[in-house]
Amino acid sequence: MTEPTILAIESSCDETSAAVIRGGKVLSNIVNTQAVHEQYGGVVPELASRAHQQNIIPVVAQALLQANVNKSELNAVAFTRGPGLLGALLVGSSFAKSFALGLNIPLIDVNHMQAHILAHFIDDPKPQFPFLCLTVSGGHTQIVLVKDHLDMEVIGQTTDDAVGEAFDKTAKMLGLPYPGGPMLDKMAAQGNPKAFEFPVGNMPAYNYSFSGIKTSVLYFLRDKTKNDAAFVQENIADICASVQKTLIKTLLKKVVLASKELGVKEIAIAGGVSANSGLRRTLQEYAAKYNWNVYIPAFQYCTDNAGMIAIAAHYQYLKGDFASQYVSPEPRLKI
Ligand code: KG4
Ligand code: ZN
Repeated sequence: MTEPTILAIESSCDETSAAVIRGGKVLSNIVNTQAVHEQYGGVVPELASRAHQQNIIPVVAQALLQANVNKSELNAVAFTRGPGLLGALLVGSSFAKSFALGLNIPLIDVNHMQAHILAHFIDDPKPQFPFLCLTVSGGHTQIVLVKDHLDMEVIGQTTDDAVGEAFDKTAKMLGLPYPGGPMLDKMAAQGNPKAFEFPVGNMPAYNYSFSGIKTSVLYFLRDKTKNDAAFVQENIADICASVQKTLIKTLLKKVVLASKELGVKEIAIAGGVSANSGLRRTLQEYAAKYNWNVYIPAFQYCTDNAGMIAIAAHYQYLKGDFASQYVSPEPRLKI
C-alpha cells in the first residue's frame, strides 16, 4: 500500500486537531485553538484536557467530511504520543486507540517534534537530506540534523527555557495579551530593533540559553519605569523589536556555526516560533549571505496541527512502524 489513507490526531497542548492524508497528500487539516486559556494568560493543563475531550469528535468528523473520506476507507489512525501535556495527550491517544480498535486498523504513534520537522514534506519545495532544522516552539529549541525522514539527531538545544517561552514571557511583562509570541511579533514590526540592547546568551557548541534575556528584560523594565510610568506604553514597539532581534540573532548564530562545521547548506525552520515574521525575513537574508537553501513552512504548518502528524504517520506507515494498543503517552518523549 503506497497510497495509505490515514487519520491523524494532535492533542499535545491547546490545539485539538485532526487531519486526513492520502498517499502523502494532506486532504484536510482542522485545527481548533482552545480559547479558554486566554483569560488565564497561559495554557491551563486541566482545562486543555477538558476542551480536547469536548472538541475531539467534532474536529475528527469535520476532518473526514472535508477530506471526503469515509472512516471505512482509513488504513491507519495516528496520534501524538509526546512530548506534551499528559492529560491532553491522553485524550488524543485514547481516542485514536479506540478508533483503531473499532475499525480493526493499525495505530501509529508520532513524535510531535519529529512531526514539526516533517511538515516540510507536505508541500514543495522539500529539503534535501541531510539538512539542518532549527525547531523552535513553546517547549523546545533544538538544532536537528535530519538524515532521513525518520532518522534525526539533535545536535544542540536549550539548556533552560525555550525561545517560545522567552517570547511569551517578554510579552506578558509588557502587558500584551495571550498568546504573547504572535502579539510581540506584530508590535515589533512597528519598532526600531536598534533602540535597546539586550545581552545574547552564549552557550558552548550548538546549545542555547534563554533564561538570561528574560531576567534582563525584567530588570530593564523595572529600572526604566521607576521614574517614568509611561515608559512601556511609549516604547513598546521599540522594546518588542529589540528583544525580537536579539532572540533571532541568538538562534541563527548557532545555525551558522553548525552549517559551517558540518558543511550543510540546506537549512529549515519548524515549530510555532517559525511563524515569526522577523525570523522568516532574517533567514532569507542569511540564505543570500551564506549561500543556503532555506525552507520556511507555510503558516498553517508552523504552529501545532494534525497535518504534520499525518505526514509523519505516512512515512511511518510505509516503514511498517506501528504501535501496539499498550502504548502510552510520553510527556517528555525525545527525538
Ligand atoms: O509549536 P507550537 O504551536 O506549540 C508547542 O509545541 O509549543 O509553538 C507555540 C509557541 C508559543 O510560544 C508561541 O508564542 C510561539 O510559538 N509563536 C510565536 C509566533 N507564533 C507562535 N512566537 C513568535 N512570533 C510568532 N509569530
Ligand atoms: Zn508544537
